[in-house]
Amino acid sequence: MVAAKRGPSPRPGVLDIAPYVPGTSALPGAHPVIKLSSNETPFGPSPRAVEAYLAAAGSLSRYPDGSARALREAIGKLYGLDPDHIVCGAGSDEVLNLLAGAYLGPGDEAIHSEHGFLVYKIAIMARGATPVVAPETDLTANVDAILARVTPKTRVVFIANPNNPTGTYIPFDEVKRLRAGLPDDVLLVLDAAYAEYVRANDYEAGIELVATTHNTVMTRTFSKIYGLAHLRLGWAYCPTDVAAALNRIRGPFNVSGPAIAAGVASLQDQAWVQRAVEHNEVWRARMAEALSALGLGVTPSAANFLLLHFAKGNGKSAPEADAYLHEKRIILRRVAEYGFPDALRMTIGTEEENRAVLDALTAFMGKNGSSRR
Ligand SMILES: Cc1ncc(COP(=O)(O)O)c(C=O)c1O
Repeated sequence: MVAAKRGPSPRPGVLDIAPYVPGTSALPGAHPVIKLSSNETPFGPSPRAVEAYLAAAGSLSRYPDGSARALREAIGKLYGLDPDHIVCGAGSDEVLNLLAGAYLGPGDEAIHSEHGFLVYKIAIMARGATPVVAPETDLTANVDAILARVTPKTRVVFIANPNNPTGTYIPFDEVKRLRAGLPDDVLLVLDAAYAEYVRANDYEAGIELVATTHNTVMTRTFSKIYGLAHLRLGWAYCPTDVAAALNRIRGPFNVSGPAIAAGVASLQDQAWVQRAVEHNEVWRARMAEALSALGLGVTPSAANFLLLHFAKGNGKSAPEADAYLHEKRIILRRVAEYGFPDALRMTIGTEEENRAVLDALTAFMGKNGSSRR
């Protein structure tokens, strides 16, 4: 008998990671689907971004500018930031992983909130560090609970503001209180993937705090309102020392040329962004009201999605709603792995998509009526 060969083993902890399961993006059969499972804008990218992407096809054999200078300058111009403090990545997922890679190792702890974005836990565990969960209040990050979990081993705190999948946010005063309560050597990562959608006077994405402290980072993405999820493009605004660390460990050409070109062009089309914000504002409110009227629990959201809470059992549960919606060729997001077995997350879509969801859920809940009244 041939002895079984033992291959290389990953570092301790790697195989303990529950793999990230992306939102469903297709259903069996050829008919088109309504996909509202990954919080992408329903309008797609600006036509200017598509044009720039296509133009970049002429130079695919050349390495891109490894420092993504044109993109960092365009971001800097839009937000009034020093491009030297910006680090770009293949999606903010990469940026979050780079932060974990630079600041976490075995024996370290990093805190995230109870229903926080799952990539944090994965990034923390991938470095052999320990994720520490801070309970939330009303499905919202709780600053006191986070501060209560800080130990001498704490190196990083990750917080999505607004958070995915809840859509809730904490006001700037609370973010400042969090920063003030954390030790100086703890990095605070403010993940502002949905910042563009927030219309609240007490919200600040993180720019001010990054600019005025030496231990706070803000991450952003082109995947949501800019409609470039497929291209993988994100960035971080960092203090000098953090940028220096990230630039040492990132891949030398981690952002592709077509992504840089499309990113620059999309930043130049703020009218496109504005239209998406306004559409979202109207339809998020309409959908929240109409879905609540059907008897669903709807968590107040500042982002471009709604967390919908269903009953347990009685034929009206979230898994049953999901199956029913699939029959209607509609895909929302199951969020059991976020601690919500009885909820679905719905991205705000086009008017037509939103009405289709409303009609389907009205029928599912056994109510009368059409969204077209
Ligand atoms: C809170 C949050 N952060 C980061 C991301 C990652 O986005 P990307 O890697 O596409 O930039 C997402 C995507 O779902 C998110 O919801």
